[in-house]
Amino acid sequence: MLSFLGDSWCDPPARVSLNPGELQVWRGALDVSEPARCALWRLLSPMERARADRFVLPLHRNRFTVARGLLRTILARYTGAPAQELEFEYGEFEKPLLAGAFRTRDTRFNLSHSHELALFAIARGREVGIDLERIRPDVKHRSIAERYFCSAEAEALRRLPRSSQCAAFFAVWTRKEAYVKARGEGLSYPFDRFRVSVPPERPLALLSNELDPRDVSRWGLTDLCVAPGYRATIALEQAAATVELDPVV
Ligand SMILES: CC(C)(COP(=O)(O)OP(=O)(O)OC[C@H]1O[C@@H](n2cnc3c(N)ncnc32)[C@H](O)[C@@H]1OP(=O)(O)O)[C@@H](O)C(=O)NCCC(=O)NCCS
Repeated sequence: MLSFLGDSWCDPPARVSLNPGELQVWRGALDVSEPARCALWRLLSPMERARADRFVLPLHRNRFTVARGLLRTILARYTGAPAQELEFEYGEFEKPLLAGAFRTRDTRFNLSHSHELALFAIARGREVGIDLERIRPDVKHRSIAERYFCSAEAEALRRLPRSSQCAAFFAVWTRKEAYVKARGEGLSYPFDRFRVSVPPERPLALLSNELDPRDVSRWGLTDLCVAPGYRATIALEQAAATVELDPVV
């Protein structure tokens, strides 16, 4: 296992354990062989299968199936319960949580998928959000930043050399989305009312929040090196936890 901000990924240990306050991150590939996907499909609940069936494109259906199956496989290792028996409930804005008996073990998680990769963050006793984005040069990053980011972030992006603006935009995006996912509100939370650092600005942090100023000391942000062409950030309640990086599949 690699420690905090390691830049490579290694095989998961045979047994996982998570002490209070710790966080571990798993990386999964979503485009797997058909037999592997079918095995993961069998772990899904009837509701999850129905949700998978609602995707129009097979690619999206398959990736959702694999991500959910991997999530169940990973959480089974922490809870000790069979993957197919885990139950989820959903917050007001659809953030999934472990439900029933599994909730009392205080295992929190969040996942993000982009293109053919997924990240799974598992934390004990602390709320967590994670966001992964493939850097897509065709995205109209300047107009999105002007419209949705706070003015200080948009201004900091404008001042960067044009050649680094796109990657910096995705860095800001994953930092903001990880934070709103950690809060559980997702994109319903107004992106222009809080500010994160814009690369190469240091420290990497939630710098301000007009709506909830106390959040600045409540959440820590960490960028992860995932794969070339991707950006990812974790937002973890209180910043002092150890981050360990594990691959899966
Ligand atoms: C959560 C959200 C930010 C996901 O954005 P995304 O970039 O498309 O997706 P990601 O891959 O990063 O994350 C998706 C995962 O986050 C989790 N998730 C869903 N809602 C979440 C929330 N409110 N907070 C945190 N995590 C959430 C789920 O596990 C989801 O995976 P799944 O769809 O396979 O179940 C976005 O869907 C959102 O804002 N939802 C909130 C609900 C909302 O505002 N809906 C609009 C109603 S008008």
